[in-house]
Formats: sequence, C-alpha cells, structure tokens
Amino acid sequence: MRDKVSPMRLGVDFGTTTTAIAIVDRGNYPIVSFVNNREDTVDFIPSILALDGDHLVYGFDAEDAAREGAPHLRSFKRLLSDPSVTDTSTLRLGNHSISVLDALTGFLTYVARTVRTNSSVASVPASEKLEALVGIPAHAWSAQRFLTLEAFRRAGWDVLAMVNEPSAAGFEYTHRHAGTLNSKRTSILVYDLGGGTFDASIVSATGTLHEVLGSRGLNLVGGDDFDVILANRLAAAAGTDSGLLGDAAWERLIEDARSAKEALSPSSKFITVPVNGEPTTIPVADFYDAATPLVNATVEAMEPLLVPDASGVGQLGGDVAGLYVVGGGSQLPLVARILRARFGRRVHRSPHTAASTAIGLAIGADPEAAYTVREQLSRGVGVFRERDGGSFISFDTLLEPNTELAPGETLTIKRCYRAAHNIGYFRFVEYSSFDEAWVPRGDLQPCGEVIFPFDQSLRRSDVDLESIEVVRTEDGPLIEESYIVDEHGMVTVEITDLDTAYTIRRPLGRK
Ligand SMILES: Nc1ncnc2c1ncn2[C@@H]1O[C@H](COP(=O)(O)OP(=O)(O)OP(=O)(O)O)[C@@H](O)[C@H]1O
Ligand SMILES: [Mg+2]
Repeated sequence: MRDKVSPMRLGVDFGTTTTAIAIVDRGNYPIVSFVNNREDTVDFIPSILALDGDHLVYGFDAEDAAREGAPHLRSFKRLLSDPSVTDTSTLRLGNHSISVLDALTGFLTYVARTVRTNSSVASVPASEKLEALVGIPAHAWSAQRFLTLEAFRRAGWDVLAMVNEPSAAGFEYTHRHAGTLNSKRTSILVYDLGGGTFDASIVSATGTLHEVLGSRGLNLVGGDDFDVILANRLAAAAGTDSGLLGDAAWERLIEDARSAKEALSPSSKFITVPVNGEPTTIPVADFYDAATPLVNATVEAMEPLLVPDASGVGQLGGDVAGLYVVGGGSQLPLVARILRARFGRRVHRSPHTAASTAIGLAIGADPEAAYTVREQLSRGVGVFRERDGGSFISFDTLLEPNTELAPGETLTIKRCYRAAHNIGYFRFVEYSSFDEAWVPRGDLQPCGEVIFPFDQSLRRSDVDLESIEVVRTEDGPLIEESYIVDEHGMVTVEITDLDTAYTIRRPLGRK
C-alpha cells in the first residue's frame, strides 16, 4: 500500500498521441494503467479531444465520440509546438472556437480525474494533492512552456518542475543501466521518436546529476507520419487516394493503417488493410521504402550531436555509453534496423519504449532517488533594437542557445547603459542557432515587443509611441534591462529607468 500520509508523486508525459503516467511508489516507478470505455486495460490516455454535442470530451470519451463521427482533434500537442502559438491562440472544432489553453486545461483536468477514479492507483481522495514532474519537449518555445505549465496548474496539478522529455528518459536509462556508465562513458544519447515529434539529446550522467549537453529535434516528425505514409501506399495500391476517398473513409484508413503498423514484427512480409471495405495488401518492403526517408531525417537531425569518423560519417562520441531508443514511434522495426546499421551494438531500446519518459519523470519526482537535472535552454533569446531613426537595426544576444540553468533556480542577466534615444524599440526573438557574425538563423520566432519611452515626457497614456520618430538624445536616463529566466525556462524582461524607477515588465512568449 502507498503511504497515505505523503502526497502522491507522479511523472506525467503529456504526449502528442498518448499521455503516459508513472507513479513514485517506495523506490518503484510503476506505469499507471487505465480502463478505457471498452473495458480494456491500457497504459495511456489518448491525447485527443472531441465535441460531443455542445460540450468538449477528452481522452477515452473523445475517442468514442470520434468513432461516432463527432468533430475531434488528435495530436493537439502539435498546436503548442507551432511557433506562432500564443496564450491567446484558439483552435476550431466543428463550428466551435476554443482557446488552446482551455482545451489543454480541460484535457489535464480529465487526466487528473481519471488518475483519481479510474486507474491502477484509484482511488485518490480529492484532498490528496497530485504532485507531478511534467515533461516538456526540449525544443519548446516559451509560449509552449507557459501554456503547459499554466494548464497543469489550472487543472489542479501541483507541478514540481518541468523537465526536458529526453532528460527524463536519461533518468530511466541510468536507473536501469547504471553499469554501462563509467569514467570513460559518461553520457548517453537519447533518441525519442514519439507520435508527433522527434528529439535527440546528449545527457551527461555523473552519479545522480544529469545534464543535457545538447539537444536537437524535429517538431513535425513522429510515428503518426508513418500512418499517413502507409495509408497513402495502401490507397495507391487500391487505385485511389485521400481526395477520392473523402474525409471519413480516409480517417478510417489512417486508423486501420496505424493498427496494422503497430502489429508489424521484424519478420512481417505483407500488410493487409481494408481500403474502402476492400482488403488491400502491399509488401512491407514497399512501406519501409517510403518510410525510410523519415527515419533518415531523424538520423540527420542528430548529426550535430555526433562525432565524425575518419570518413566524415557522424558516429556516437567515445564518451557515449549508448544510443537509448525511446518513444512509441521507435517500435516500428524499421527504426531499430536503420539505427543498428549505423550505430551497431551501442543501440539500446527501452523495455518500456512508450513509457520511458513517464518513468524517468517519476524517478525525477522521487526525493529518495535524489536525481537532479541541470537543464539548458535549447533556444537562445535575443533582441533587435532600432537605432538612429530606424535606419539601423542591431541584434544583441541575451541568452545563447544552450545556456545552463541550475536546478530550481532562476537566472538573471542584467545590462545597464545610458539611453541615447528618445524611445527604445525592443523586438525579442527566440532562435535555435546563430552564425559567425552572431546573427540568429535557423528557426526564429518573435516572442515579444517592448516600446520604452526613454524620454520622460512621452510616458503618458495619450502618447502613441509607435507614431513617434526615434531620434538621438543627449543625457538620457540610466536604463537597466533584466532578463529573468525562471526554473521552467520562461523568460521575463524588465526594463527600468533607474533615475525614476519607471519600469516595464513583460513575460516573453505571451501576448
Ligand atoms: N508496436 C508499435 N509499433 C510501431 N509504432 C507504434 C507501436 N506502438 C505505438 N506506436 C506508435 O507510437 C506513437 C506514439 O508514441 P508515444 O506514445 O511515444 O508518443 P507521444 O509521447 O504521444 O508523442 P510525442 O513524444 O511526439 O509527443 C504512435 O505513432 C503509435 O502509432
Ligand atoms: Mg513522448
């Protein structure tokens, strides 16, 4: 029996396709199982929402409603990773427009209720807190971090911390394979192919301290894409396509393709799936041919984390104990085949492929395990400033990508200068890398804007700052810019006129 005195601690992996949860239970981290509406016991809650009549339903209920033809949305985590998402973004379901934050809050409320009332740890009284370590993709923009944390809080969870999903899988690996780590092999490369995203991270593991040394990913590649590839192949073999089939038949085909994909074994030769009611068979090799570029894209995305061998081909570095393969999408036999061909025997697959992250999060949530994680911001934050009447825009790096964050602490960066203009235009961006001239490149995402009146006479509500020309001034006020990065990797900017204490404070990544 669980000790009823202490609050329940869990690891929650809100995934694109599935939400998996593991619990801290006296040194064990069992996966929480649930009974779905067909009375099957499963290890996850599907991450799906649907409109049943006029109200939103989630998880197993949404799956049922979707099967009955209700408007529904799978993989809604993908909306969060869209660079243009903000805390005011909405999604459409049928003819309803719903805020993304409300949808996520509703889903996480459903997850909490299901854990309490209909799971392998039921029943948990409402008075007992659910304390969770929550996973977040390593590549999440600030807006995604904010939305995730805020929705968990609103849904009644007590969030202990948000941790990079691959770091969590790293906990699971070291907990299980501590023996493979030694003074020479000090890190692991986590390969996480989920339903909707791919992430790879080098996690250094010394004792119980885990540190993410580098992380790469593809926000829009995952196991769900294999379903679409397979469905297209099957449709072509049946002489049709998605357009000809229409929405309902196409969705049915994708669902059947997913089941067929999940049933493949390394020795499977043919796949048979009904297309529009007609059994259609294709060789597995055809499907694998079409899916190979996708797996190769994941290997390519890892390239910056590899070390070139004599012929320039990226290999696991000498300090890497193994390539740890996690995520449900990596159960496709083709994935291990391609990875083994490239990296040989240092490829290890998690025994709980789809729940590795959740188990790792539970390990991280266990004070007894004493695992700590040192996180890095995988995104950099910088600012474009307009200079000299807007004729010149300069870029300053504020936080470089891979800036280190100490566990549970905030990091503050300050800069102080005398203003040389009447107005300061600050356009903040997040970015994943920069070139030799320190100009950001790769993904770049505006994440906030501040127009600061350095000139005191402009600090009135009736002044439209945007319409005022930027001009040089003498003897401007002393300005301090502070960039405060909290323990969840969210950045707040604070610009203050130190002479008068006039200040503007803005969290980045939010409207
Ligand atoms: N036996 C299997 N063979 C192949 N693929 C599988 C198998 N079981 C599950 N999958 C696939 O795994 C994917 C879901 O993986 P997982 O639960 O790790 O993703 P997620 O955590 O929801 O997504 P993400 O990490 O991208 O947010 C789905 O595409 C599913 O079809
Ligand atoms: Mg996942």
